[in-house]
Amino acid sequence: MSQHESVFPEGFLWGGATAANQIEGAWNEDGRGPAVSDYAILLNKEMREREHIVEGGPLNAVTRQSLSERMAHPEKYDFPKRRGIDFYHTYAADIALLAEMGLKVFRMSISWSRIFPNGDDLEPNELGLAFYDRVFDECHKHGIEPMVTLSHFDMPLNLAVKYNGFASRHVVDAFEHFAETLFKRYKGKIRYWMTFNEINHVYANPCTCDGVIWDELPDGGNPYAGRWPKKFQIAHNQLVASARAVIKCHEIDPKAKIGNMLCRLENYAETSKPEDELQVLFEDHFNWFFTDVQARGEYPYYIKRFFKDYGVHLEVEQGDLETLKRGAIDYISISYYMTYIMRYKGKISPEPSGQLLTVIKNPYLEQTAWGWPIDPIGLRITLNHIYDRYHLPIFISENGCGLYEQPDENGRVIDDAHIEYMKAHVEQLAEAIRDGVDVFGYAWWGPIDVVSSGTSEMSKRYGQIYVDLDDYGKGTGKRLRTKSFYYYKKLIESNGADLENDIPEDFTV
Ligand code: BG6
Repeated sequence: MSQHESVFPEGFLWGGATAANQIEGAWNEDGRGPAVSDYAILLNKEMREREHIVEGGPLNAVTRQSLSERMAHPEKYDFPKRRGIDFYHTYAADIALLAEMGLKVFRMSISWSRIFPNGDDLEPNELGLAFYDRVFDECHKHGIEPMVTLSHFDMPLNLAVKYNGFASRHVVDAFEHFAETLFKRYKGKIRYWMTFNEINHVYANPCTCDGVIWDELPDGGNPYAGRWPKKFQIAHNQLVASARAVIKCHEIDPKAKIGNMLCRLENYAETSKPEDELQVLFEDHFNWFFTDVQARGEYPYYIKRFFKDYGVHLEVEQGDLETLKRGAIDYISISYYMTYIMRYKGKISPEPSGQLLTVIKNPYLEQTAWGWPIDPIGLRITLNHIYDRYHLPIFISENGCGLYEQPDENGRVIDDAHIEYMKAHVEQLAEAIRDGVDVFGYAWWGPIDVVSSGTSEMSKRYGQIYVDLDDYGKGTGKRLRTKSFYYYKKLIESNGADLENDIPEDFTV
């Protein structure tokens, strides 16, 4: 045990985060309807190299044509998110393992189409609701707080196909009904909710995030080019949906807290040229935009000029602005994985460069095998920026590192790189807390291996619990405690004070 005192407040929520579409499987059981995530294909290393595609690139998206083709000939494809890690059947044993590791909070999401198979049915599917009752009860039995994301990248297929997801106000109504149903059913069982996972992904991944079929946006073609007017309309609809859920949550269960979820992109200027710094400002605006609306309840000043310059004319319905105001969130939640380098583009535009990942490499940072820069100090910087901006408590709802891992000849997964990543990030989190930032929890992304969101592969492993399944779903499905399982357990027991990696390598799997 280190001699250092913990700087983490008592009751700090050490946790792990997952999403229904990446763990549950059972995609067509007990009345669940299909979701867009059920049509995401495997894009593992072998396939990326063969097809010359980049992670997060357009081929993993669902377009009208690809969707029709995948629906007509499912036998030609592999859809890993349909099987997940079979959590639907293994949840009790999995939660017991998470409890053994010491988790205080388990962030998970509810599959919308498990509750409303078509997304907009009048009555919910009781079997779906009962499943989550069992999961929450199991968490409580072990003293784990379940924390729920209402919607995490799994729009019911029907709403995408028929209404083009959040491009339609009908889907806003359907979402409010879904949220209200959950708040009523789980009142008292859930203390922390969040509305949409990584709401800012509408820029790059409107289908995954919003159920919007890309080629049906009015100015079709390359999903990364143009179309700002439409994307901001989708964002507006989704922000109204989020605010309506916040209002309902407060009405139905005043003791519950509800937050946002932003993929926080901390940006650094490539050089000390003022223009590069200006680009950082622009990019920051497009990132903060969502949280500014969700936390402050109104459109920020800077977006008005952008709307004017780019001809964005939002269709704002009567009462929307009032709804945004009344629907301000209680806490801020972010995912934090990496930082970006900005070079002046000569124009204001939130246009991604063609992929989610930065094209300019930071020479001072190492990267994972997937090209994700590792920047623990960036976490301290970003937490300070957020707290300074909103003065609301912060929950880190995702942080973690995907690695190729497998058991050694003794059957043990010695994942020191996970440990080093966690240690470095928790050290910087502690610094942010010393700086005075109010952080009330930290959830590791994927405490148990999950199907990757971006590439649908199993081989991108985050878990302190290794799942014996390969990209094609082959394997025993057995769960193994890894070295980082014992590291995180020890870290949690010391409330973040003991960061030494001194775990003996003869641990029990
Ligand atoms: C976040 C998502 O963007 O990143 C998760 O909220 C996702 O769903 C995580 O799994 C890591 O991304 P990936 O592509 O490695 O699974």
